[in-house]
Amino acid sequence: MFSSPLSFSEKHLLEHFETKIATAVPERDILRARLERYLPELLSGLEVYKPSQTQLEQLLDVFITHHSTRKASLRALDLERLLAPDWFERPETIAYVAYTERFAGTFQGVLEKVPYLESLKIKYLHLMPFLQPRPAPHDGGYAVQNYREVRADLGTMADLEHLTAVLHEKGISLCCDLVLNHVAMEHEWAQKARDGNCKYQNYFHFYPNRTMPDQLEQHLPEVFPDFAPGNFTWDETSKNWVWTTFNTWQWDLNWGNFDVFLEFADTILWLANKGIDIFRLDAIAFIWKKLGTNCQNLPEVHQITQALRSVARIVAPAILFKAEAIVPPNDLIHYLGCKEHFGKVSDTAYHNSLMVQLWSSLASRDTRLMTHALRRFPAKPSNTAWNTYLRCHDDIGWAISDDDAREIGMDGYAHRKFLSDYYSGRFSGTHAKGLVFQENLKTHDRRISGSAASLAGLELALENNDARQVELSVQRLLMTHAIVMSFGGIPLLYMGDEIALLNDHSFLENPEMAMDNRWVHRPAMPWQTVAKLEDAKTLQQKAQQQMQTGIKALIEARVRTPHLHAAIESHVLESPNQHVFTFQRLHPEGRLLGVFNFSETAQVLPAWWVGFEHAINQITGKPVHLEQGLLWLEPYQYLWLVATN
Ligand code: GLC
Repeated sequence: MFSSPLSFSEKHLLEHFETKIATAVPERDILRARLERYLPELLSGLEVYKPSQTQLEQLLDVFITHHSTRKASLRALDLERLLAPDWFERPETIAYVAYTERFAGTFQGVLEKVPYLESLKIKYLHLMPFLQPRPAPHDGGYAVQNYREVRADLGTMADLEHLTAVLHEKGISLCCDLVLNHVAMEHEWAQKARDGNCKYQNYFHFYPNRTMPDQLEQHLPEVFPDFAPGNFTWDETSKNWVWTTFNTWQWDLNWGNFDVFLEFADTILWLANKGIDIFRLDAIAFIWKKLGTNCQNLPEVHQITQALRSVARIVAPAILFKAEAIVPPNDLIHYLGCKEHFGKVSDTAYHNSLMVQLWSSLASRDTRLMTHALRRFPAKPSNTAWNTYLRCHDDIGWAISDDDAREIGMDGYAHRKFLSDYYSGRFSGTHAKGLVFQENLKTHDRRISGSAASLAGLELALENNDARQVELSVQRLLMTHAIVMSFGGIPLLYMGDEIALLNDHSFLENPEMAMDNRWVHRPAMPWQTVAKLEDAKTLQQKAQQQMQTGIKALIEARVRTPHLHAAIESHVLESPNQHVFTFQRLHPEGRLLGVFNFSETAQVLPAWWVGFEHAINQITGKPVHLEQGLLWLEPYQYLWLVATN
């Protein structure tokens, strides 16, 4: 069927398939066609393991099992999405990210909130970790004890399956966190390893003494230097050092072991058959380890992702992968695919650099660094999409490269220090109220926690009862959301940002959370506040209402703007005004010019540079006047300009 000649392994596997599948299996020919299509990608990814024929046959058995049990409705979705492979790249795709319990209590509660999601035109819901974690503390669910159970307080697996089915009827996809790098030390595999079972000890990185850990440590950064320093933990039961990049109770998996790959292939397909559409590949950058490196972003990571994606394409092509790789700009693009992996790894990835640059330019009121850094980004494969976002559940780490800073005459270290000071409230005149997360005394790195609204000045402005500053904070937030909604890719709206929720310090009362101040920006949804917004009275309510109206207007505009299809690249332009960020998107229907004023003073751009004779702002639908040769911008004004027909 496919033109390239089959390799020995490919032929052998197809023969094995024919023998295995002699019995009735639904849509047998379709499975065979997909197998044949993706075998080369699968096998080249699997080269990291040099798997035996027996191991490959085991994988094939996993395919057949999950293919045979995939529901008719999910098969229909497979077909639908194969026929419209850009389904997630379209401007209609807008994502909402929420903790189930903080958003709606339970899975059943989420069902009741579907009308709210629909009012925001959400097409993709990311419910934060809901697979069964270890007993608290569990890093917000990122220490999974059982990948085949859900948190009992949220409901049952049957409830989850029901939720996915209802969401599908409404055209909403569900994203689930899949922690790849580690499991909870209470996971069955870890327990068996601790009890001395060799097979399972091989699932982890065990060292009987400090020799290897000490050598490895020389090149390893610390992710949580504050509450979990070091990368190895002594396990008293097995008398071994165990690799624990994150917390001591999160045991890193040995992805060099084919059995680990097989377990995850099986798990992904099993969850896909429960109706999960998108897998957020948590901490994917860390899965491959090599002495003498920082054990992040190694080439094998991309090979393994390619193999996992082929697995998904063969059995459940409706599903997507979203890479969670919060890594420096030069490493990031590889998660969407470069060179031999171009378009063959994750379908989407967090655009961490854009997020960092937004906060950086908000603080400095200067867009030159952002412009320079983003202009250097290589183009991504057109079958992939960035996940653009302003805030998420994690802290903000200042991923600003020294090279980028130097090239525009700045000092990277000094700028990162400024940003930490600015957002933690130490910089004189700052509007931000954030908290320092994980101060690293060796590198002086200080990451920041805080809700978007508190970081953008709303909290301070409300405290001071300063109506003008409140208005500017809301404008600041809406302007950055306007970039997130239009830069290209899937915008992720973090729960509560649509109503400008402030920092919530109640986490300090919970001993299991108190040490991790990321909980400050993970508040519960105040539904009573939402209900009252139509009749806003206080300064805060008015700000929240303005925010909600502004976000809805952006969403409405996005949906009707074909230029925002993710297959099209945004070209960041060298703006003639350093306070104004600009990019253009060249779509067959015409050019869209995004214009964003990052300062609280009015700014201008020369009309000749803007380049439209007659333009409208696609967000408001109103014409934009280019008077006396100038485009005037109000403080924090944002425009999506397109030519008037
Ligand atoms: C990811 C999650 C973060 C978690 C870490 C360890 O980065 O986003 O919240 O702490 O993985 O699992």
